[in-house]
Amino acid sequence: MHAAFKLLIQEHKEAKKDFAILLENKDEFDTKLIDKICNELTRHMDMEERYLYPVIAKKKALKEEAEEATLEHDAARKLIKELQGGKLDHVERKVKLEMLQLDIEHHVEEEETEVFPKIEEHFSKEQLDAIHDDMKSFKEQAQLTISKR
Ligand SMILES: [Fe+2]
Ligand SMILES: [Fe+2]
Repeated sequence: MHAAFKLLIQEHKEAKKDFAILLENKDEFDTKLIDKICNELTRHMDMEERYLYPVIAKKKALKEEAEEATLEHDAARKLIKELQGGKLDHVERKVKLEMLQLDIEHHVEEEETEVFPKIEEHFSKEQLDAIHDDMKSFKEQAQLTISKR
């Protein structure tokens, strides 16, 4: 598997782990962890939307996958916005978090088992190297911004 996908899958794993820790105790949520999950997911989706999906959308065989993924990102962003808006009571927060967890699980499963293997089939190593480089610098830049806060 190309390093570009390994990078994305590693981030999926981290998000799933954070969700599992967060939802271990549903009586009281760690708001800092909610924030971390939301920020990381947003950055991950920004990265895919900027460097991966526009490139694959240009290929006829992958246009539909790109469109579907983007729509799923939109649904996740909507939930993230509500979770970070700070106007939810405990039950609302719990329900939105569980919805987001389910959405993300479905979405990453599709990316990992259907979309990424298909991209790997249709793109050369050089093209994937370029996408990987772009994503890596985007991630480093985002981490730098966070550590400066
Ligand atoms: Fe995605
Ligand atoms: Fe992803």
